[in-house]
Amino acid sequence: MAMAALTASSSSSSAIALLNKPFLPNRSSFVYCNSHARLLRSSASASVRPRFPSLAIRAVALESESNETRSSDQKENQTQSIEIEETQVFACPVCYEPLMRKGPSGINLKAIYRSGFKCGQCNKTYSSKDEYLDLTVTADLDDYNEVKPITTELFRSPLVSFLYERGWRQNFSRSGFPGPDEEFRMAERYFKEAEGGVLVDVSCGSGLFSRKFAKSGKYSGVIALDYSENMLRQCNEFIKKDNTFDSSTNIAVVRADVSRLPFPSSSVDAVHAGAALHCWPSPTNAIAEICRVLRSGGVFVGTTFLRYSPSTPWIIRPFQERILQSYNYLMQDEIKDVCTSCGLTDYADVVQDSFIMFTARKP
Ligand SMILES: C[S@@+](CC[C@H](N)C(=O)[O-])C[C@H]1O[C@@H](n2cnc3c(N)ncnc32)[C@H](O)[C@@H]1O
Repeated sequence: MAMAALTASSSSSSAIALLNKPFLPNRSSFVYCNSHARLLRSSASASVRPRFPSLAIRAVALESESNETRSSDQKENQTQSIEIEETQVFACPVCYEPLMRKGPSGINLKAIYRSGFKCGQCNKTYSSKDEYLDLTVTADLDDYNEVKPITTELFRSPLVSFLYERGWRQNFSRSGFPGPDEEFRMAERYFKEAEGGVLVDVSCGSGLFSRKFAKSGKYSGVIALDYSENMLRQCNEFIKKDNTFDSSTNIAVVRADVSRLPFPSSSVDAVHAGAALHCWPSPTNAIAEICRVLRSGGVFVGTTFLRYSPSTPWIIRPFQERILQSYNYLMQDEIKDVCTSCGLTDYADVVQDSFIMFTARKP
């Protein structure tokens, strides 16, 4: 049955084995790229360009290895650069330093499962577990299990995760959600300028939209990110079952908390968060964090349920507020206020009953 617990993949043990090999003693011996200078801006033609400097580093290293005029010291440094690179894409969730990666480069399931990640600052290691890369602060803790608010915990359940794309999500149409295909089309229009870049689908659930973004071929990398282990397992299953995906499709499945995003500051081109804001423990912390990781000009698009729709009779509004108080249902002006106070600009939205799609940009 699809819900059966997945056994730990052999790739995760190989990633751990990789990490057990000694890393370089200090960062000065790395071939180093400035994460802020690295991003290729998107082109008007929306062609997907490689945005992984590590690929370039690798190519340079291989070329220089064959150059016999290099001193043996230089050669040794070049060889080391082939094995360990700063990822540029992922950062440590504790200190936000770009993670070092050991293994094949690229944002695709195969390369990521075969890689080990390590923070040169905190010395913490991260690897793929049960087919997602765990980049939470609690990754690999033996004794401590963090329990989040109910709106986060609900989606960690195997049953809710299983049902999510098999009926649960379809119910949102009753509140005015236009449905995944139309929501995707609407979001794509806002993301035009981010095409060619890295898109993070925050709180992706079972990856409904992450898969659509990856299939569009318009992004150099799509990161399907959620806090729920079981949602991410579902996400993996859907990717595996879909024969339009192969192991080289630019998609990664990552576990992380929205208020501690594992990306360097100003490094991400686009953030999507479908039907998620009302589930976040703190919408302000989450949007401030999204603003931190977006590059200048980067675009945020989110959808959520409003506390009540314009047509909700005023007499039932207080009762509705009480019933729904565990969720962070905001109103249109509050969402705009939060985005603006976190430093985002060019706010715009579309409302239909209780559904709102909003967008804003990092200046
Ligand atoms: C209603 S689902 C939305 C799924 C999908 N994006 C969609 O449009 O259908 C909300 C998601 O938010 C995630 N979530 C809740 N708290 C979170 C947190 N602190 N960090 C990251 N994701 C969180 C849940 O695990 C769940 O998958």
